[in-house]
Amino acid sequence: MPRTVYLETFGCQMNELDSELVEGQLRALGYAFTRDASNADVVLYNTCSVREHAEQKVWSRLGELKAAKAERPGLVVGVLGCMAERDGSALMKRMPVVDVMCGPGELDKLPTLLDNAVRTRESLIADASVDEPDEVSAWQSALQGSTSRRSATLAAAQDSLELLDLSRSTFVGVDDAGKSKKTAYVRITRGCNKFCTYCVVPFTRGAEVHRPPEHIIDECKLLADSGVIEVTLLGQTVNHYRFEHGAAVTIGGVIQPQKGRSYQGGHRRDPFAGSNVTTFADLLRRIHDEVPSIKRLRFVTSYPRDFGDDVLEVIRDHPRICRYLHVPAQTGSDRLLKLMNRGYEVGEYLEFLDRARGFLDQPEIGRPLMISGDFIVGFPTETDEDFEASLWLLRKARYKNSFIFKYSPRPGTVAIDKFSDDVPEDVKRSRNNQLLAEQNRICDEIGREQIGRRFEVFVEGFSPRARKQRAKAPGAVSLTVGGRSREVGDSAADSQLSARTDGDLIMLIDAPAGRDPAQLVGQIVPTLVTGAGPLWLTGEMVTG
Ligand code: SAH
Ligand code: SF4
Ligand code: F3S
Repeated sequence: MPRTVYLETFGCQMNELDSELVEGQLRALGYAFTRDASNADVVLYNTCSVREHAEQKVWSRLGELKAAKAERPGLVVGVLGCMAERDGSALMKRMPVVDVMCGPGELDKLPTLLDNAVRTRESLIADASVDEPDEVSAWQSALQGSTSRRSATLAAAQDSLELLDLSRSTFVGVDDAGKSKKTAYVRITRGCNKFCTYCVVPFTRGAEVHRPPEHIIDECKLLADSGVIEVTLLGQTVNHYRFEHGAAVTIGGVIQPQKGRSYQGGHRRDPFAGSNVTTFADLLRRIHDEVPSIKRLRFVTSYPRDFGDDVLEVIRDHPRICRYLHVPAQTGSDRLLKLMNRGYEVGEYLEFLDRARGFLDQPEIGRPLMISGDFIVGFPTETDEDFEASLWLLRKARYKNSFIFKYSPRPGTVAIDKFSDDVPEDVKRSRNNQLLAEQNRICDEIGREQIGRRFEVFVEGFSPRARKQRAKAPGAVSLTVGGRSREVGDSAADSQLSARTDGDLIMLIDAPAGRDPAQLVGQIVPTLVTGAGPLWLTGEMVTG
């Protein structure tokens, strides 16, 4: 009997990709997947620790599983990802319902950990000794992986983690329902060396390492061959990518990822470009040129300081690289940037935005540059004046959208030790709302500026309105785009489609009369913008 797994993912795109890789590995071993947790033999949560709220969601899910486990003692529960790494065995103590924990640095070991857990659980049930708490906790801890950055196993973990990314070849392209994938994530960098004072990521994901370019390009080719037309390259500071071929290490025939060197920053061009170094600019150019069937190439997240002109030139000169940058500023206050250890000042950030717009903003050819950002409000000691500076920066930068977060003190970070969380919750909330309101106003403005422009858009699926109607209609099938399922159907229901410009603006379009809307999903089509609101554009398909 195949074992059935329910896997739920929280957090960032890095986690979405990890979940996809985990799913592929487990499928290859004969596990089946279900979308219904109550049917599963194994429940896995791939978790995020970046803010307390993200962790609370998982705590409450785990709480709900207590009753399920009492009813079904064979149920195996696993916590994967950043919470497993951050909380370590404390998590298991607090939540005995958890059988397996596996941090992001050891996901390649998950199949073994899970297999042990399933077997142990079964034999304990057979012995009827599962009620003995001591015995349970003894085998629970045997099933934990190591804990990464802190325990010095990270280097070894990286070797086998590279194999996890490479394992993609065995299951790429389709899921168990035979659905095809049109968009995919490809990791180029793991970990982070920045140590922004508020952030857990360097602790949960370990030190920055860069994957060999050959592996990245092969993965892109593989995805393209299976029908993927949009690839998003992933890294916490994606523009730090740099691989020195002379220093490459090979283990067992596999080129190993390489540690991020201490980054000089502020460079306009990598002085070693053209030698035996693959820079981020080189990598983008190679993917663009060597994998022409990838119609859209994106990357997230960029670190504001270290963005060379070489990268901007490559984006400008290679039409299939998207004119979209996600470059979080976090705050508009130089004083707070320093306390956050961000390593740049507002002036440098603005200089970068000007430079990027100078190279890339070309609305006249239907290619305006779209920039998105992140802000943290209520960082310790933030005054009204600091906050006003963030509001000013948000206006000045004219982001196409911003992700705005209330500061959340995270255990293990410098900020929680050094500063008290002294901005009251209601002040954080009000600042959060003010930034959101201003961002909405800008979104509205940017949307209206697009009216009358022509864009190539990537049709991702039916619009939310159409999906709702179609969910009720019989005969709907679904297509997987970027790991998420979109309804695709041939019934007579609403046929409004949801699409994206290369600058990441959402556009709703009606399929032209006589065209089957389901056939348009997963394609890039030419459109004209006819209307706009703060959340999306509306448009119509045009010819040529
Ligand atoms: N590597 C990316 C972001 C990773 S985390 C970068 O540096 O831009 C995603 C976002 O979460 C961050 O940009 C930040 O805005 C937010 N964030 C991280 N830690 C946080 C914390 N402790 N409280 C509130 N927001 C946080
Ligand atoms: Fe966190 Fe800063 Fe690294 Fe981004 S750059 S992941 S905010 S430490
Ligand atoms: Fe969260 Fe870990 Fe990503 S903390 S944001 S899942 S790297």
